[in-house]
Amino acid sequence: MRLFVALAIPEDVREKLAALLPELKKADPAPRWIPPQNLHVTLKFIGEVALERTTAICEALAEIHIDQPMHLEFRGLGLFPNIRRPSVLWIGIESSEDLARLASTIDRALGPLGIPLETKPFVPHLTIARFKQPQVSPALGAEIAKHQSYTFGTISAAEFHLMESTLKSGGAEYTTLRSFRFTDQCKKDS
Ligand code: 2AM
Repeated sequence: MRLFVALAIPEDVREKLAALLPELKKADPAPRWIPPQNLHVTLKFIGEVALERTTAICEALAEIHIDQPMHLEFRGLGLFPNIRRPSVLWIGIESSEDLARLASTIDRALGPLGIPLETKPFVPHLTIARFKQPQVSPALGAEIAKHQSYTFGTISAAEFHLMESTLKSGGAEYTTLRSFRFTDQCKKDS
């Protein structure tokens, strides 16, 4: 099974993001636009693992503890790696350093299970489209510029999720396998 760890997007922010998508899609229908229900903030891509390894993965994730919930603000649009050879269109995320610390803690917790450690720094982002051809239409370029400092919403997250990605002909389908509350307060509640 193909796994990753992510933060979920609450419904109100999802709706705000979804409202913008038709406008962007109209500007350029060519990229593969992510369906609103699939939007998430990836903290760690685990990749293919055998079913029996999920218990150890869950045990390692359940040990993770961060004092405070994460506060994230979704702001602006951008491209990976750059506008000349775009592969991903994203919404930017402003957050405290805690978010990178959480991603790195998850990475290090899974390392001993043989899941390769990240070699690149964590760049928080919310993928909204993937490019089949590495080019941005002038109309989409104008939309990106127009929304440079647009704020899509803020979230406060106290849990992350182990997700399964099933690749289908119509695109990936994501299922939440298990949720992990990582703050003191929530650990007491669970
Ligand atoms: P991203 O959208 O935030 O870039 C599930 O496949 C998620 O894992 C994707 O949404 C993607 O996050 C992330 N991911 C990171 N590396 C990946 C890889 N090599 N293959 C597929 N997905 C990857």
